[in-house]
Amino acid sequence: MWCKSDVIDSEVVVLGAGPAGLVLANLLCAVGMRCTVLERRSREWVENRARAGFLAPDSVEVLRRHGLAEGLDRYGSTHEICEFRGPDRKFELSYGSLGSGRPHTVYPQQLLVTDLLAELLRRGGTVEFETTAEAVGDLDSDRPWVQTRDAAGRVRRHTGQFLAGCDGARGIAAAAVPPPAAIRDHGITWLALLVQAPPSSANVLYGVHPEGFAGHMPRSADITRYYLQCDPEDTPESWSEQRVWDALTRRLAATDQEPLSRGPVVERSLVRLRSEIRDSLRQGRLLLAGDACTAISPSAAKGANLAIMGAELLARALTAALRHHDMTAVDRYSADYLPMIQRAQEFSHWMIELLHPPAPDDPQAAYQRVLRRARLDSLATSRHHQDFFAENYVGI
Ligand code: APR
Repeated sequence: MWCKSDVIDSEVVVLGAGPAGLVLANLLCAVGMRCTVLERRSREWVENRARAGFLAPDSVEVLRRHGLAEGLDRYGSTHEICEFRGPDRKFELSYGSLGSGRPHTVYPQQLLVTDLLAELLRRGGTVEFETTAEAVGDLDSDRPWVQTRDAAGRVRRHTGQFLAGCDGARGIAAAAVPPPAAIRDHGITWLALLVQAPPSSANVLYGVHPEGFAGHMPRSADITRYYLQCDPEDTPESWSEQRVWDALTRRLAATDQEPLSRGPVVERSLVRLRSEIRDSLRQGRLLLAGDACTAISPSAAKGANLAIMGAELLARALTAALRHHDMTAVDRYSADYLPMIQRAQEFSHWMIELLHPPAPDDPQAAYQRVLRRARLDSLATSRHHQDFFAENYVGI
C-alpha cells in the first residue's frame, strides 16, 4: 500500500525531458493542464547535451505557433546549401531554392532544450530531475501510473489520466507498447565527434569516399559536428586525433585552399545505424512520442523534427480527450503520426544508400558501387532528382 505523500497525481505524466517531452509539456501547460515531466538526468546534463541542430521548416512553424521560438528566431541561422564531395567530384545543392524552396534553421539542440525548459517552468509545469521512471502499470485503466526512484533512493508513484512516453528509443515506455514490427540493422557504424573549432565551411558536407562516409555539420561559431564511418569493431579510443583528421581530410576532400579548421575533439561516441518501425504507438493510456516511437538513423537529421511534430499531434489529442471528452484524436494518434515516421525512415534509408560504400565482403559490391556513382551523377545533374532530394531533405 502506498502512503499518501508517495503518490503524486497529475493529468498527464511525461517520461523524459528531451525535445519531445518538453514540447508536449509546454503545449499541455498552455491549456492549463496539470503536467509533470520525469527526467532521470540532472537539469545541467539535459541543458548541455549536444545532439542534433537542424530544424525543418515545419518544426520551426510548430515552435513559433506555440510561442517556443524566441531563442531560435534570435540566435538560429538559416542553412540552405549542402555539398557532396567525392575523390573525383564535388557539387553543391542549394536545397533552399529547390523542391519546396525551404531552408533549415540551425539551432543547437541543447539551446532549444534550455529554452523549452525555461518556458515550461514559466508556464507552471513541473519537472522532476534525477528521477528515473522504473516501471509503468495499469495502462488499460483510466488511472495509469509510473513508479519512480529519485537520487536519494526514494520510490514514489506518479499517476495521471494519460502517460506520455518521451523517454527515447531505449526507454521503459517503448518496452511497454507492442514491439517494432520492422527492424533493420544497417551494419554501419559512425564515430560521432564534437570538435571545438569553427565550421570548415558554411555548408553541410557529405564526404562520399570509397573508404567510407564522412560528414561535417556546422553547429555554432565555435563548435562543429563531424562523423566518420568506422569499423563496427572500433572503439572511440582506436581513433587518435591524428587518425581522425587524416581521415576527415581525405574523405571530405579538403585541400590547402579549402582546409578543415581543426580544434580539440571534445566528445566522441559510436552511433550504430539502426531503424525500428512500429505499427502502434500506444498501449491503453500510454502514448509514445519522439525517439520512443522509432529508432531512426541520423543520416537525414529527422529525429528531433519527428519529435517536435509528434509532440504537437499528441498534445492536440490529449487536449481533446481531457478538455472536451473526445477520444477520436487519441484513437487516431498512431494512424496520424506513423505516415510521417515512415516517410522519414524511407528518406533516411535512401540517404544511407547514397552516403555509404558497400561492405567489402558484399558479393554485389562492384554492382553497388556503379549504382552509387550513377545516383550521385544524377543528383549532380538532374533538376528532378535535386527537387526530390530537397523536398525530402527539409520535409517531415
Ligand atoms: N526515466 C526518466 N527519464 C528517462 C528515462 C527514464 N527511465 N529514460 C530516458 N529518459 C530521458 C533521457 O535522459 C532523455 O533526457 O528521456 C529523455 C529522452 O530524450 P531524447 O533522447 O532527446 O528523445 P526525444 O525527446 O524523443 O528527442 C528525439 O532529438 O536529439 C535528437 O536526434 C535526436 O532523435 C533524437 C531526438
